[in-house]
Amino acid sequence: MRTFIVTLIFIFFSLGAFAQDAAGETGFWRDPLGDPLFPFYVVTAFVFLTAFLVVLVAVYMLQVLNVFIRKAAEEKAEKLGIQYVPQPSMWTKFWMSINAFRSVEEERDIMLDHNYDGIRELDNHLPPWWKWLLYGSIVWGAIYLVVYHVTDTLPLMDDEYNLEVEAANAQKAKFLASNPPVAIDENALVYEPNEAILAKGKQVYTINCVSCHMPDGQGSIGPNLTDEYWLHGGSIKDIYTVIKNGVQEKGMIPWGPVLSPEQIRDVTFFIHSLQGTNPPNPKAPQGDLYKEAAAAEPVEETSSL
Ligand code: HEC
Repeated sequence: MRTFIVTLIFIFFSLGAFAQDAAGETGFWRDPLGDPLFPFYVVTAFVFLTAFLVVLVAVYMLQVLNVFIRKAAEEKAEKLGIQYVPQPSMWTKFWMSINAFRSVEEERDIMLDHNYDGIRELDNHLPPWWKWLLYGSIVWGAIYLVVYHVTDTLPLMDDEYNLEVEAANAQKAKFLASNPPVAIDENALVYEPNEAILAKGKQVYTINCVSCHMPDGQGSIGPNLTDEYWLHGGSIKDIYTVIKNGVQEKGMIPWGPVLSPEQIRDVTFFIHSLQGTNPPNPKAPQGDLYKEAAAAEPVEETSSL
């Protein structure tokens, strides 16, 4: 029982954390201490734990109290010289009434008069809890019918979905109104070592690109992004274009549908800022040498994939 309750509490908190996870980038499981709601979880956990312990102690005290009460009743009965008959507990009374159990003495009255090889049958009623469940669901069904189909007071599934979409669109419009998207002309993009852009670019890179290009850009599945050799050109426009359109047949994902133009710009600038950083264990150069001054002219041919 105790294990069950602990498990239940655990599941409750995990669910909360998962909901968080789905909601944002920083999830409870990825970075529990960094989660802004962490103190809230801790306090809630303590409140639940305390409540649970209080209930546990209370139940225990009640049991002890019951033992004393019974002892006293037994002694009293003994003094009076009568036999002690324990009172059924509240729970037992409740259980008997919701099941409408008949005592063994009454069985003779409800025995049906057929008999198959000594197997006989009692004419028991359906247990009241079962009947009330049925009546309850009939009442519920009637209310549901009226509310959802007759008066249309509450929206059905489709309408509910549409309302949510509408609300999300309104939210999006509000967000766009306060954060107008930066118009990005990829043909006229010029690199600028803007701290904020590079930080955002690094974030995009860390989330999406590290698995193939490695944390420092030294390359593994994808090519080294820190050297001066490029398979698809090393200008800002080339890098932007290859990130946007990908090289699907070679395993480079087209990021255009995934990232916003602004994010692609950010990560393009970040990759450009990696030039000449010489990280450890670099992947051998692939493609053509690209020099900023020499513009788009490829200078030297080396290995290519
Ligand atoms: C699934 C692996 C994978 C992921 C994830 C990936 N890339 Fe690539 N990337 C590659 C491969 C493979 C190539 C080489 C394509 C080729 O051979 O033409 C490549 C090429 C590139 C190039 C061109 C390099 C050159 O030499 O011209 C750039 C720039 C690049 N990736 C940026 C990114 C960015 C930015 C991300 C994240 C948004 C990313 N990649 C995510 C596999 C990946």
